[in-house]
Amino acid sequence: MIKIAPSLLAADFSCLREELDTIKSAEWLHLDVMDGHFVQNLTFGPGLIKAIRPYSKQQFDTHLMIEDPARYVDVFIEAGSNHITFHVEAVSNPLSLIEHIHARGVKAGLSLRPATPVEVLADTLPFLDLVLVMSVEPGFGGQAFIPESLEKIRWLAQVKTQRQLNYEIVVDGGIDDKTAALCQEAGATVLVAGSYVFGAKDREAALGRMRHGR
Ligand code: DX5
Ligand code: ZN
Repeated sequence: MIKIAPSLLAADFSCLREELDTIKSAEWLHLDVMDGHFVQNLTFGPGLIKAIRPYSKQQFDTHLMIEDPARYVDVFIEAGSNHITFHVEAVSNPLSLIEHIHARGVKAGLSLRPATPVEVLADTLPFLDLVLVMSVEPGFGGQAFIPESLEKIRWLAQVKTQRQLNYEIVVDGGIDDKTAALCQEAGATVLVAGSYVFGAKDREAALGRMRHGR
């Protein structure tokens, strides 16, 4: 069954506890960390994640859009992240960081900018718990879905079956009920959505439309 990961970036930051209460049926909570270097935007750090951790039962899915992620993974793990995803463009040796994350009992993911070919992940896939396909340019919520992302999802789904691997195929950016259906058809197993979920008056209804879009 498809899992949904609302992106906290689109929530009302003045009342995060109340916002979390509106999305209880979602399996994961997606946490977008931006450093103003890897992407041209700044969001939040481990302090915020630690502060909201007691108010959610969801898997905390931390998406590091930062340079030098190896320097910061430990503080994000200590803050309560269940998954740490970093960008393949930000490191020279992803495998050593994946091993470090696993040694700390946390799931590891790799993400790709839209311009990065998915095939660069081929050798690393057996070691990953998730692959995060960026379907917009990382940096901001509320952008339009890039349709070519569906090709990456299909490739990841095919390789997963062929090589009998276990990673989740996560898609992030521009997801609404319509693009959710296309991504599910292509083989995505987790849908990240910020504006579509937190922009809806009835958040649980929005989550339902994403799940049953097809
Ligand atoms: C973009 C972030 C996304 C973003 C998604 O850099 O990685 O997670 O919050 O927002 P929407 O769903 O509004 O495109
Ligand atoms: Zn994200």
